[in-house]
Amino acid sequence: MLGSVILFWISFSFLFLLFRTKRPKNFPPGPRPIQIFGNLLQLNLESLPNDLKKLSERYGKVYSIYLGRKPAVVLNGLQAMKEALVTQSVEFAGRPKGLMLNHLTKDTGKTMAKHGPVWKEHRRFALTTLWNFGLGKRSMEGRILGEIPYIASQLENSGKAIDPQILFHKATFNVMCMVLLGTRFTHDDEFLQQNIHLLREMSRISNGPWTMIYEMLPLLRYLPLPFQKVFQNMNMIRKSLADQVSQHKESRVPGEPRDLINCYLDEMEKRGDDGSSFSDYQLVSYLLDILFAGTDTSANTLLSAFLYITTHPDVQERCQKEIDEVLGEKEQATFEDRHRMPYTQAMIHENQRVADTAPLAVFHATTKDTRLMGYDIPKGTIIIPNLTSVLSEESQWKFPHDFNPSNFLNDEGQFVKPEAFMPFSAGPRLCPGEGLVRMELFLILVTLLRRFKFVWPGDAGVPDYTPIFGANHTPKPYRMGVRLRSSSVQ
Ligand code: HEM
Ligand SMILES: *[C@@H]1O[C@H](CO)[C@@H](O)[C@H](O)[C@H]1NC(C)=O
Repeated sequence: MLGSVILFWISFSFLFLLFRTKRPKNFPPGPRPIQIFGNLLQLNLESLPNDLKKLSERYGKVYSIYLGRKPAVVLNGLQAMKEALVTQSVEFAGRPKGLMLNHLTKDTGKTMAKHGPVWKEHRRFALTTLWNFGLGKRSMEGRILGEIPYIASQLENSGKAIDPQILFHKATFNVMCMVLLGTRFTHDDEFLQQNIHLLREMSRISNGPWTMIYEMLPLLRYLPLPFQKVFQNMNMIRKSLADQVSQHKESRVPGEPRDLINCYLDEMEKRGDDGSSFSDYQLVSYLLDILFAGTDTSANTLLSAFLYITTHPDVQERCQKEIDEVLGEKEQATFEDRHRMPYTQAMIHENQRVADTAPLAVFHATTKDTRLMGYDIPKGTIIIPNLTSVLSEESQWKFPHDFNPSNFLNDEGQFVKPEAFMPFSAGPRLCPGEGLVRMELFLILVTLLRRFKFVWPGDAGVPDYTPIFGANHTPKPYRMGVRLRSSSVQ
């Protein structure tokens, strides 16, 4: 019964689409909308990556596709990316309207906020608070270092081999909580388990075909399909964060912020009723946004890093040698130590390059009519920055398709960062979490590599590096063996 209803709606939407799409003049080339649509109807996620690759090979660096009736332009390669996101930063800094993410965030918060005063005020606030919370000072470092012993103790007791997925999610969730809420949670805490469960379920569903159906076929949005679950989960997390905000309101000492909520409340008080965009509702949206943007992405990056570290013992040993030499008898690594660890730095960046965690960034939109590489792009067009195409561009990397830290080393063995390293995107929408992520990856990886040796289990077969396809890349589940290093200081 439900099947035939869905079929009816799909056919209906299909006809709707057929008659409604019209190509703008001098628009980048691309397949007829129906072709893409047909593709999605088969829901063939296995072949989708390949189908998309064929499109860019056929139509060039800047090509168009239709998301339902909405025209979108895909940017491939460093040149197109820079010309759009950096050179024409204002023209390309918008966000699309009417997509699932908009509805999830109700267009509040930051990620989907349109380019304008609300976004600007909140972004400036995010950058200054993240900075005050010690990206510049010690305290952020302390917060991250404080979480590592809990990861280490679980690894120590992991027996023959461990699937690190949940462990890393808990760790990155806690780091986010320390920044946002000023507290961490034990790994069996209900708040933590519940929220991680909700976040992971949301990512799983929104990574799959249902998001595309949602975007392509607006008429299906009200049916009881799996994407409704994403909305339910979002509301549950929203509620638990609203509780946190109320608790903070009772316990806070104005002017002495311990975390981002306190900072926001101080800022709200300072602004009073000046008509600024700061409000309770925005605050909760904002927390949700950051939690959603920062937890899964960081956890997936760590997961991918350990997949490569475990299966590249030569790289692992070279890092361990460098780490041992630089740290000597020192009790703990600090973020400053990175300057004396070029190889380890290169390894971490190379991990992020191959992890390719946010392959299509977050979609942008044009804020006015504009031109790009000879094509006309009208205001309001969806812009899809293909970060994968830059992170693996053959003209930009020494070893575009291998895992090789030399991609980030010059002939003297010094660490260098090529321009095409943009896992956090580029321009005014650049991920504001970059500084935190940098510090988190460095401290966690260095501390764990110093203490443990990671081995690929003998019975695990050939490693499969192809990530699960979706809006965020995550490695296929794997297990790793963990041994204490004998030379370890601790
Ligand atoms: C490895 C981890 C991460 C990766 C790969 C990543 C990547 C990205 C990318 C590609 C974007 C889209 C930029 C664009 O629209 O062009 C983005 C946006 C964003 N990220 Fe991250 N991110 C990570 C972690 C974090 C963390 C830890 C936080 C929070 C502290 C965060 C907060 C945000 C926010 C708020 C936005 C929206 C910015 C805006 O629209 O102005 N991200 N991120
Ligand atoms: C993005 O670029 C990669 C690498 O060039 C390609 O395989 C993929 O299909 C592209 N994605 C889209 C949506 O064009």
